[in-house]
Amino acid sequence: MSKKVFIETYGCQMNVSDSERMATILAKEGFQIVEDEREADIVLLNTCSVREKAENKIYARVGQIRRRRRNVILGISGCVAQLEGEELFDRFSGKNSIDFIIGTRATDRIAKVINSVIREGKTKVIDNHEREDYPELSFDLNLSHSKCVAFLPIIEGCNKFCTYCIVPFSRGREVSFPPRLILQQARQLVSQNVKEIHLIGQNVNSYRPREMQDLEKFKGATPFSKLLRMVAELSGCERIKFTTSFPRDFHPDIVSAIEEYDNLCNWVHLPVQSGSDRVLKLMRRGHTKDAYMKRVERIKSSKKMIALTTDIIVGFPGETEQDFMQTVELVEQCEFHHAYIFKYSPRPGTPAAEQMTDSVPPEEKTRRFLYLESIQKKIQAKIWQSYVGSEKLVLVEGKSKKNPNQLTGHTTCNKVVNFEGDERLVGQIVKVKILEAKNNSFLGRLV
Ligand code: SAH
Ligand code: SF4
Ligand code: F3S
Repeated sequence: MSKKVFIETYGCQMNVSDSERMATILAKEGFQIVEDEREADIVLLNTCSVREKAENKIYARVGQIRRRRRNVILGISGCVAQLEGEELFDRFSGKNSIDFIIGTRATDRIAKVINSVIREGKTKVIDNHEREDYPELSFDLNLSHSKCVAFLPIIEGCNKFCTYCIVPFSRGREVSFPPRLILQQARQLVSQNVKEIHLIGQNVNSYRPREMQDLEKFKGATPFSKLLRMVAELSGCERIKFTTSFPRDFHPDIVSAIEEYDNLCNWVHLPVQSGSDRVLKLMRRGHTKDAYMKRVERIKSSKKMIALTTDIIVGFPGETEQDFMQTVELVEQCEFHHAYIFKYSPRPGTPAAEQMTDSVPPEEKTRRFLYLESIQKKIQAKIWQSYVGSEKLVLVEGKSKKNPNQLTGHTTCNKVVNFEGDERLVGQIVKVKILEAKNNSFLGRLV
């Protein structure tokens, strides 16, 4: 009988995508992917290490699984797996032992690793080596997070080494995937009725493939803006979104591309992290406040309304009240449609954790977090309120989790809209009148 695998995913879209592709490989090798942990013979935790809390969650989760299921085969993949490597076997020993570890660049070999545990009876199997080739980009839509929205990685890794960030260590150096493979996969997704493709990567606009000749015939000032046009020209591709954009490498031609093609969505996620040049320098972000504002001006002056969102860290080592107030000021100026705000969390091995003192006390981090959040909430409420009464095109993605009588989906500007409607609309793009703005979603009515 085929062995059952349960995969639990933490962290960013890259991890979601890795899980989808690992599930596909395992299913091809004869495993059955299950959605209930209690049925599983094998549990795989695909982990995140971006902040301490994310990492601690994994340690607690291993203990919990072992208490419930002493004999299940338990493995760890993702960023914690890559960072800790073999040491995880020591950390989880005795009652809490784990059976295998898969690094972030070894995901294509997941079936081989699991088979060596179950068929050959090996214990403590680890594969955290580099890839032998570009990864397999295709995946089974039945095993993915959505049947109509798909994540398509175009670049993996990160070369930026922002001083607070663990990602360059857990994901390795930037590797851009060949345009040919990306196009092939995008075509396949469109032929399977996928309505929205998200081009994903830690920094999509750092895209720089070795196979530049594939992009020759596309207009564009950078390889990424050429790639955007390449995907946009694919017939039947209704919506294209991309994330994340790195401010230093965000070329204005990206905005031009969005203006030229109806199917390039009007949403840009551009993490600023801080509004203080002093802190930005300590973070080694490679941009100043002014340089960031220039990008913002180009986005805001576009003839298309483009929704701008961001990430911000409060309480970075050495951040003074004055630095913080510069972030507040920037938030007021930029009028973000949404901002993910994080309290700085020292990550072992990063320059900020090793060489700088975590000088802002926890209560002060919390105060700055709450204050900035309250400012952003007010700005956001005003922007979101301006949508009320308008009609938006919504891609219906499924039933709402909170209210099963409602359907849920996203606008082109990446806002969630909930509304009543027939489940048969799932997978279609429909017109919805916006009735009410909630904190992070809209309530609407089908037109
Ligand atoms: N590649 C993206 C984001 C990567 S991680 C970028 O360059 O913006 C997602 C977000 O987590 C970051 O934008 C940052 O705001 C936050 N983050 C990363 N490391 C962090 C840390 N050590 N403490 C708190 N927040 C962190
Ligand atoms: Fe981390 Fe900076 Fe790379 Fe983003 S660009 S993943 S924040 S090091
Ligand atoms: Fe987390 Fe790794 Fe993504 S640290 S945010 S899962 S790249």
